[in-house]
Parts: sequence; C-alpha cells; structure tokens
Amino acid sequence: MVFNRLPEYQALEAHYRALADVHMRQLFEGDAKRFEHFSLQAAGLLLDFSKNRVTKESIDLLCQLAEACEVPQKIKDLFAGNFKNPTENRFVAHVALRNSQDTPFLVSGRDVMPDVKDVLAQMSVIADQIRLKDWLGATGYYITDVVNIGIGGSDLGPALVTEALRPYHDAGIHCHFVSNIDGVHIESVLSKLHPARTLFIIASKSFSTQETLLNATTAKEWLQKTLGKNALARHMLAITSHMERAMDFGIEPEHILPLWEWVGGRFSIWSAIGLPAMIAIGPARFREFLQGAEEMDEHFAKSPMHQNMPVILALLSIWYINFFSTRSYAVLPYQQLLSGLPAYLQQAEMESNGKYRRQNGDLVDYQTGTVIWGTTGSNGQHAVHQLLHQGTQLIPVDFIVPMLSHDHLGDHHRHLVANCLSQSQALMYGHNEDEISKKLVDEGMDREASKLLAKHRAIPGNRPSNTITFDQLSPRRLGALLALYEHKIFVQGIIWGINSFDQWGVELGKSLTHNILKAISGEGQEIDASTKGLVAYYQQHQQQVTNR
Ligand code: F6P
Repeated sequence: MVFNRLPEYQALEAHYRALADVHMRQLFEGDAKRFEHFSLQAAGLLLDFSKNRVTKESIDLLCQLAEACEVPQKIKDLFAGNFKNPTENRFVAHVALRNSQDTPFLVSGRDVMPDVKDVLAQMSVIADQIRLKDWLGATGYYITDVVNIGIGGSDLGPALVTEALRPYHDAGIHCHFVSNIDGVHIESVLSKLHPARTLFIIASKSFSTQETLLNATTAKEWLQKTLGKNALARHMLAITSHMERAMDFGIEPEHILPLWEWVGGRFSIWSAIGLPAMIAIGPARFREFLQGAEEMDEHFAKSPMHQNMPVILALLSIWYINFFSTRSYAVLPYQQLLSGLPAYLQQAEMESNGKYRRQNGDLVDYQTGTVIWGTTGSNGQHAVHQLLHQGTQLIPVDFIVPMLSHDHLGDHHRHLVANCLSQSQALMYGHNEDEISKKLVDEGMDREASKLLAKHRAIPGNRPSNTITFDQLSPRRLGALLALYEHKIFVQGIIWGINSFDQWGVELGKSLTHNILKAISGEGQEIDASTKGLVAYYQQHQQQVTNR
C-alpha cells in the first residue's frame, strides 16, 4: 500500500486543486470561530492550527489518509512494544522510558520496566551525590562542573533540556557540552575548568563514534595529567549499550549506565542520556519531564485522528510537503531558553525521515523528510523572516511560545508574545498592494510612485503556521513538547511508508574519513582528484607549520 496510490490521496489532490488559490483571509472571514474549530489541547499544550490552508474538509480527508495508512494500528504497535526498525533488527520502544505505570512493557516478549526503573534509580543516586556534594573527586574535592561528551542524539537532547530548564538549576552545578571533533570546542571548555572538580560523562550508545572517542581521550589525558593515572575512577562516567568498550577505555563498570538497543540515539533523552539534565535540575524534576512526555504518549495512544495533536501536526506537514511541494519547514521558538530546539528537531526529523526508499526497498516517487531549520524569535525577525514573508518559497512555520515568562522584568515577555503573534498574523494575512498604495497616497505620495513602492512593500500572506503554546516552560511541558514532535515524526514515517528509525545515510562519510586520515598520513589511498588535491593542500599547510 503506497500512500500516493490510495483513493484517499487522490481525493486530497482534487481538494488541493480546489483550495490552492483560496486565501486564508477568506477562510477567517467565513468562520468567526476558526480558532475554536482548528485548535487542540493535550498534555498542557495548546496547538492553534487555524492559520493553515485547510478547511474542515481538508482535515477530514487528511485523517482518512492516516486511517488508510493504518496509523491507528501502528500507534498501537508502538505502545505494545511491537514496532520494529527492520534494517537494524531492533525494536522501537523509547516510550517505555517514560512509562510510570506499574504495567509491564514487553519488548520482544521481555518486560523492560525493571531495567528502566533500575537505571532511573541509579541515575538519581549519582545525580543526588553530585548535587549534594557527596561525590568527591580523586583529590577529595566535590564536583562543580559536569562535561557531557557526546554527539548527535548523545548531545543535542541533553544540551537542549539542560539549557531549556536553566531556571530550575538549583544545585550550583555547571553543565557543559562538548560534541565537535574540532579541538577548539573541548579546549575552550577545559580552559575554564579544574580537573579536581570536573566530572565527565561519555555519552555514546555505540561507544565507537570517532568524535566522542577522540574528545574522551583528550579529557582522559587532561584528567590524568593533573590527577594521576587513577583519575578516571572518580571523574568519568559512561552511558552506552556497549559496556565492554567503555570498560576497555578505562571507565569503572559501576560508573557505566546502560542504554538499550531499543532506544534510538535521537530518541534517547528520556534514558540515562538525560543524566546531565537530571544533575542540573534534580531527579524529581527529571521525573516531571518524563511525566510530561507520558501525558503526550497517553494522548497520542488514545485520541482519535481528528483530535490527536501529533497526528494533526504530521498531517499538516504532509499536506504542505506532498501537495504544496514545500521544501523546508521552520521551527521558531519565541523563548531564548529553547534556542537548542531547532537543532534538536533537525536531527529528530531529518535523520529519521530523510529517506528515499520505502520499507520494502522500493524507491519513493514522492517527497519525504524536509529541511528543518529555525532560530529563536524575535531574533529571526531581524535576520531571516524576510524570506518567510516575501520569498518565493512557501515555508510552513511552527511558532512555539509560552504564555508565562521566567524573566523577572515585567515588560519583556508581553513584547515577546506580541512579536510572535504578529508574525503569524502577518504570514497569514499579508498586506496587499492596494492597501499600501492608498495609505502612501493619503500620506501625500504621488500616485505612480506609490504604486511602484507598494509592489515592493506588499506581502502576499496566505503563508501557513501553527502556534504551539503552554503555560510556562517547565520540565513537564518540555517533556510533552518533545514527545509531541517525536510522535509527529513517527506518523510521517508511517504515511510515507519509510523506516524512520535507521540512519544508514551517515555511514559512508564515517568510513571515508578513515581512508582520508590514512591518505593524510601518506598511506597511499585510491582517491579522486579533487580529494587528492585537497589532501595535498592540507599537507602543504601542515608542512609550513612544521617548518616554522
Ligand atoms: O552518526 C549518526 C549517529 O549514529 C546518530 O544517530 C547518533 O545520535 C549519533 O551518531 C551518536 O551516536 P553514539 O551515541 O553511538 O555515539
């Protein structure tokens, strides 16, 4: 069953043709209750999707498409522990990580809940020891700084959550994140720290990621140089599915927290990978974070398609990607604390759904994952929103804005919210030439000049956006928000018929890096002329440094 061969898809195509030239202004003029008709609430989040190019019929047809693609059954499979990532022969069961009920969660027939609860308890013990200054380093000092070394899902999630929940940091522990293999990254972090007071968390599901291992080796040498050979015992933890590799690296077995094969890297923030965030905010608040995700899980598992927030988000994205042929999607958090969200969602969505083959190996003949990008508002308004308003591409937007602030300044948040709402209004409503030209003439401009200027100033509008809001950015709401996007990505993958849970596309680059490293050190490698030229240019520069 290929989604674009289904009668439900054809019905949507016909509907698209009928709706393509309708301006959202008309839709709002025709329905004073459009906000009520096109908004949903779940897990403390409100999704206003009224500023989309949809009617009630569009939503009905999109939901029929979801039904025809068996989305409800696949959601059941996910929560029953029956959903598989076949190309890696793994189950997909990250939702078990936030199951707080006393119910088993069977993955391949085995209840994983005892392990999940054990690890959560282990994390809590470690976090509390560090927070209460009971975790002493090799020379008897307590820990003031935690450095997470990881990349991709082993970095973006913990970095996002730790920063987003900064107002809840209450133990005076500073968390740092090193991901890039560029030595400037680790060097700049270490330059501010003292080994006696620093604890490293080496976060790597595979414990074979080149960047992470090189950074971990640098950290190890930095520790040992000052604290001696046995420093790792009190200054390094690991989180991995490959305990033996972490032990070979020199990390004490009791300081290695497990990660299971059924947790994909980009879905792992709910696991021990979340440890830096737990250290910063405390175990109780970390459980609230899990609880928020669980609330979204319940909503996702139990709500019909029409009222299902992740399903609606996914269907709207498919409406634009597959019918309006959009090529990118902007995520614009109006909350400085969420500055890491666009990067987190880039990995979540682009690594999951950047696929060109269906589950059965056939090539797709439709668009799948799109480019996700974004930046915080209101900064983006003075940098990139020009293209959203007047560029030639249609780019759907998610605005994310909490209703209450964490600042103590009174006036800022009101302005932030007003900026956010005005952007979605401008995208939807636009400003037409006649209105602008009339205003310019009223202000005294010559009619011909006003017409030309109005052409440049006009904003077409009819550009879609969702607004996702909630009371305040708290651990619970953040959990719900991240789970919302995870499930959106899941539904997209089901409808497109692709495997959202592998990432084979990143492997070739990894193996080529090894070949190029050999070429750089002069071990004759068969390489193309361009790469050969660049390697030679690199060697030339290295030689100059050596000769200095
Ligand atoms: O190379 C891609 C990737 O495997 C991501 O999927 C993952 O989040 C990241 O690298 C880090 O992997 P690991 O946790 O195994 O170091």
